[in-house]
Order: sequence, then C-alpha cells, then structure tokens
Amino acid sequence: MAIALETVDLYKQFKRPRVDRSGKYLEVLKGINMKVREGEFLSLTGPSGCGKTTLLQLLGALDKPSSGKILFYGQEFNMNSNHRLKNIGFIFQNYQLMPDLSALENVMITAWLKNTQQAKSRAMEMLCDMGIADRAKHRPAELSGGEQQRIAIARALINDPRIILADEPTGNLDPENGKEIMKLLKSMTNENRTVIMVTHSSALADSTDRILKLENGELT
Ligand SMILES: Nc1ncnc2c1ncn2[C@@H]1O[C@H](COP(=O)(O)OP(=O)(O)O)[C@@H](O)[C@H]1O
Ligand SMILES: [Mg+2]
Repeated sequence: MAIALETVDLYKQFKRPRVDRSGKYLEVLKGINMKVREGEFLSLTGPSGCGKTTLLQLLGALDKPSSGKILFYGQEFNMNSNHRLKNIGFIFQNYQLMPDLSALENVMITAWLKNTQQAKSRAMEMLCDMGIADRAKHRPAELSGGEQQRIAIARALINDPRIILADEPTGNLDPENGKEIMKLLKSMTNENRTVIMVTHSSALADSTDRILKLENGELT
C-alpha cells in the first residue's frame, strides 16, 4: 500500500512576542516522524495547545515547517504550486463557510479547473451525496450545525482530493450529528482517500484505524 503522507524530522517554532521573556522561540513540534498509508483513517489526539492544528496545517501546506520534510506520495511538494488546491481538502470545527453565499455557492467556490456550469452541477451532486440537496439555496445562518458541516465536507471534496484534513470536525456538533459526520469521513476512505482527523474525544478516536498522540511536541 502506498504511503500518502510522510514527515521526516519535522520541527516548527513560532517567534514569541517581545514581552514574553521565557525565550525567543516557542518550539511546538520537535521532530515529528510519521507515515500515513493511503486509505487510512487516522486520528490525532493530545492536550489543548500541544500543536495538533499546527501539524495539520503543515501537512496541508498551509504553513511551512521550520525544518524537516513532508512527502506527499514520496515527493516534496512545492508550496507555490496548486498542490493544496488539487490534493488537499480541509474541514474545520467551525465550518468556515462564507456567510453571504448560499450552500451551493459555498461548495462551488473552491472548484478547480471547472467552468461555472460544471462547478455548479458538481457542487449540486456533492450536496446530493451529503443528503442536503434541498438546502442548496439557503445561507449558512439558516442551517443547523450538522448541515453546515456537510456543506463544508462537500466543499472539501469537490476537487476530489487525495487527502482530507479535519480539525475537530465534530467539536461543535451534538453526538447524533457527530456520528453522522464520522460516518461520512469513514466512507471517504473507501475510495482510497486518506483522512486525518484531530479530535479530543477518545471514543471518536477509537473508531478510526489508528491513533497518534501528540505530547510536548512529539508523537508518543
Ligand atoms: N501563528 C502562531 N504564532 C505563534 N504561536 C502560535 C501560532 N500558532 C499556534 N501557536 C502556538 O502553538 C501552540 C500550539 O498551537 P495549536 O497547534 O493550535 O495547538 P492545538 O491545536 O493542539 O490546540 C500554542 O501554544 C499556540 O499558542
Ligand atoms: Mg487546534
């Protein structure tokens, strides 16, 4: 089975504000080595502030490591290429939808290499797959949390990315909706898509293929 993502001695430091005298740099990640198989559903856990979001952002090419390498199917990606748009789908705890756009428009907006008509029909297909086609014309504020997260998932999937990165995707949802979102995430791996999910819930983590624990900047 192919390795979809691999990190080699990944370090990340942030500059501290000048008023903070505890040291010039905050070292958040201290040598992360991990391999994620294609099609794996992996969860990433650890205490608040331990660097889970930071790691996810590096894996998704939203930020650069201070040192170390990230390999996407064996190759380092170019931050300036379309790598992120083509290969990575993001899902966030607070959905991050555009408030003034309809559900359908929110899904269309990241469509890559498609004209408007194609983007629209693909977005509509995605909303159907998520079971919320009847909500296409509503704005986020008119929808429940579960519905908003389904829109965010449709948006994350519209370019058929190889990897889905989800940062506490069920954090704002009731248990019932949380379970539904977990089912959707799990089903994505059927097409050999790789899913990495940050979660605080050990029950949710237990239902994934593998759990990585981040503590003091290292995987344990
Ligand atoms: N852009 C940034 N600049 C400075 N410090 C940051 C930045 N992003 C995150 N941090 C710090 O890095 C640590 C890890 O943050 P984060 O990755 O968000 O943790 P988690 O997602 O595990 O709760 C925290 O101490 C946070 O304050
Ligand atoms: Mg976080």
